[in-house]
Amino acid sequence: MNRVIPAGVFNGYQKAVRPPEDMELTHVGPGTPCGEYFRRFWVPIVMTREIGDLPLRIRILGEDLVVFRTSDGNYGLLHIHCSHRNASLEFGVVEDCGLRCCYHGWLYGVDGTVIETPGEPAGSTRKDTVKHGAYPVIEYQGLVFAYMGPPDKQPDFPYYDTTRLPDVELVPYCIHYPCNWLQVCENTMDPYHTVFLHARVTDVHFGSTWGTMPEVVFHRRDGKIYATLTYRIDDMIWVRSQETILPSFSQVGAFWEEGKTEKYFVRASITKWTIPLDDTHCMIIAWRSFGPGIDPEGVHGDRTLCGKQSVDFEGQTGVESYEYRQRHPNDYEAQVSQGHINAHAAENLGVTDQGLIYLRRALRKEIRAVQSGGDPCAMLRVDDEWLTHVQDTVLPIPPVPGKEDKVLLKEVTDAVMEAVFAGDHLSGQQRIDRIKNELKKIKHDARFKA
Ligand code: FES
Ligand SMILES: [Fe+2]
Repeated sequence: MNRVIPAGVFNGYQKAVRPPEDMELTHVGPGTPCGEYFRRFWVPIVMTREIGDLPLRIRILGEDLVVFRTSDGNYGLLHIHCSHRNASLEFGVVEDCGLRCCYHGWLYGVDGTVIETPGEPAGSTRKDTVKHGAYPVIEYQGLVFAYMGPPDKQPDFPYYDTTRLPDVELVPYCIHYPCNWLQVCENTMDPYHTVFLHARVTDVHFGSTWGTMPEVVFHRRDGKIYATLTYRIDDMIWVRSQETILPSFSQVGAFWEEGKTEKYFVRASITKWTIPLDDTHCMIIAWRSFGPGIDPEGVHGDRTLCGKQSVDFEGQTGVESYEYRQRHPNDYEAQVSQGHINAHAAENLGVTDQGLIYLRRALRKEIRAVQSGGDPCAMLRVDDEWLTHVQDTVLPIPPVPGKEDKVLLKEVTDAVMEAVFAGDHLSGQQRIDRIKNELKKIKHDARFKA
């Protein structure tokens, strides 16, 4: 029999109603504050390989759309309902220069121009009086990106540094989640979860050293939020920096990294966007990095597992049995189970939640800036290269007798990040060389020696 506990101790009744979600940060349809903010960026909408000879129905930011590739190689993204009588263009026919509606044959160009209205009498100008909803599209490295915002605000396409590395191959993948975008996006700014979810609570999912509590510092800089995670692994100090670039672009280092061997400025293993499909569905659409730049021995990961609803590390898709997922919970279970839209008002955040507090605060500030007629924060770029700072550096720096190791880790982290930012006026190989040179000086720095 249960121990008798006084009735007044229980408070389930008082908490039975879940508070509503934070609409300002989570709702993304046309005209919503967050939706309008998202519409100021180029966002990936689908993997190139998903587009075959048929039009593909998709949902992005609460809008139903159809994406297609014409036989002459152009990509189009149109509102799904035909401008004539609203039949869905997913049942249309892709032609050389556009998409033809199945119902009465209206033909649309990739820019929404009505090219033909074949049922109208000869000489009809009907087609000249209608323009169909369309968005500009760019295909890049196996992903199709769209700009869905006001035409006069269209930004340059972001060519991030990590997408142009000579010794890295980018392999696209895409995973859908039945929940709001923010709770999936926040995961990167919750670095402490790696210790518990991925190492201590049930299973060790990734590197064997991930159960070590890192020293974590969050930084804000140029529209980005960084976390540095620094680990003492025997006589090595491993400094990982990962970042979220607003609104939802993030990069993280190799998930197999254990911080045991010396290395400098090794870049992202995952370059990803969390894209809202609507308020209660989202996707991670991303590249996994392969090649000597990220994996010199060529022994980690499996590119054949990266694709639609699939990636080469476990726990991201929720496809296993319910019982298996209960016994071996992973990222998917932790994120999706927060609810269709997480209720922030029911959370009780602590000091380890600083990253997502920063993220929410920064998002709110940006959303409000756009809402009041401003522009999103400009990204750091040199020429046409957009600079990011995700990296792993592992330095042979043993503990210094008489010095608290926590203090040493903090000083080495600061030195590493100073070196990483020292390349901010450069691009390409010049920047990489400069940063690596600066990083290599750290292990000889007298401050970090016995
Ligand atoms: S509804 Fe599309 S052509 Fe008539
Ligand atoms: Fe995780």
